Amino acid sequence: MKRSTAKSPLTNDLFEIIEKRRAIRKYKAHNIPRHHLKKILDAARLAPSASNNQPWRFIIVEDKKTKELLAKPSTQSFISEANAIVVVLGDGRGGCCGRSVWTTHDPMIATEHIVLAATALGYGTCWIANYESRPKLWVEEVRKTLKIPDYIDIVVLVAIGIPDETPQPKPRKPLEEICFAETYGKRLELD
Ligand SMILES: Cc1cc2nc3c(=O)[nH]c(=O)nc-3n(C[C@H](O)[C@H](O)[C@H](O)COP(=O)(O)O)c2cc1C
Repeated sequence: MKRSTAKSPLTNDLFEIIEKRRAIRKYKAHNIPRHHLKKILDAARLAPSASNNQPWRFIIVEDKKTKELLAKPSTQSFISEANAIVVVLGDGRGGCCGRSVWTTHDPMIATEHIVLAATALGYGTCWIANYESRPKLWVEEVRKTLKIPDYIDIVVLVAIGIPDETPQPKPRKPLEEICFAETYGKRLELD
């Protein structure tokens, strides 16, 4: 496998990174260099969390067989082709809140930091959710293989890799449909 040649971003401008990001489901075979991985994971580490509890944990999977295991019960074989898969976890113990919505929500905020940081470095990413709702036996196998303790939840996976496709932007609802002034449904003037 070749060393990574992820292109440097054309810009570090946050708004451009947000606009350029797409869910990428096709990757070139490369390894992600450690200094890139470190930057990406550090962006996750710096995410905000309820009471600064930081319940997120991350397992970085690069081993081919483990990636295949993660892809197994779905039709989404692209998961096993990613350069790396970040298994995003939530620690349900202690902190301010014990096991609560924040066990999931905080790691998801950190996940979007991962996605934007990876995009800024020229990688493509794809969120893969609903892992705990997949077949029970398979979830148990994943938990056992990754040695995930009982008090840790699997929140989401993020596939990261050098993009081998350039998808068109998916449609988004217009601002008028989702943003209101003062009360629900009242038009917000922005121009
Ligand atoms: C919480 C969440 C879960 C997702 N789960 C999956 C998934 O399991 N498989 C997949 O291929 N894409 C998944 N996606 C990617 C979305 O399909 C994608 O973000 C959406 O269609 C918009 O396209 P875009 O990201 O290219 O703008 C997920 C995205 C999010 C935010």
